[in-house]
Amino acid sequence: MTRVLLTGAAGFIGSHIRSALTERGHDVVAVDGMIPAAHGSDAIAPDGVLVTNLRQASLVELLDGVDVVCHQAARVGAGVDARDAPDYAADNDLVTARLLAAMFETRCQRMVLASSMVVYGDGTYRDGLGAIVDPPARSTADLEAGRFERYLPGGEPAAWALTPEDAPVGPRSYYAASKAAQESYCRAWSLETGGAVTALR
Ligand SMILES: NC(=O)c1ccc[n+]([C@@H]2O[C@H](COP(=O)([O-])OP(=O)(O)OC[C@H]3O[C@@H](n4cnc5c(N)ncnc54)[C@H](O)[C@@H]3O)[C@@H](O)[C@H]2O)c1
Repeated sequence: MTRVLLTGAAGFIGSHIRSALTERGHDVVAVDGMIPAAHGSDAIAPDGVLVTNLRQASLVELLDGVDVVCHQAARVGAGVDARDAPDYAADNDLVTARLLAAMFETRCQRMVLASSMVVYGDGTYRDGLGAIVDPPARSTADLEAGRFERYLPGGEPAAWALTPEDAPVGPRSYYAASKAAQESYCRAWSLETGGAVTALR
């Protein structure tokens, strides 16, 4: 039996992970801050989920006896404007950094991080000859006119292509930037401590 600290346990994905881990007989420490951006105000947490905001929680206590952290808690979505950036940084990056520091203190060596495909930005495009290209970003005028393609310098729309796992990271939103930063913090922690991180994009 593995003891798992599952963050974001009341969320869309975390609640399914909690069921799957419990069904397989693992010991799950389920935590969630029930943040209004995800649940509205005054939402009631599912039974067995400890309500705590990981920006301030005592993580060393939560990590008592924990073998692996499954880190699903995050502020998701696109936000409205630049005033949302501090909340993405706090809920996604500060919380991840706090978790990694506490894992170092408690010698917890395994982290599964919910990253996201958003770290790839606009993804991969090809020109008419099939070569991978990086066309100019969508313009506001195009978006307002309902033109959602990216256009080659000659005016033709670039063709969508599958994005390989080793495509360059190029986040385009505050949310995406915060997910890429989570990965970077985890990578640095892994290099320094020898701990194992699996980041799921
Ligand atoms: N749902 C998707 O399609 C998708 C796609 C790619 C990546 N992801 C990632 O998967 C993870 C789970 O996403 P989801 O769709 O279940 O989101 P969700 O909003 O349903 O769940 C996230 C949970 O995290 C909690 N949370 C946020 N900030 C917190 C904090 N400071 N302290 C404690 N709890 C906090 C929220 O209350 C919420 O219950 C996230 O890391 C997200 O970035 C999701």
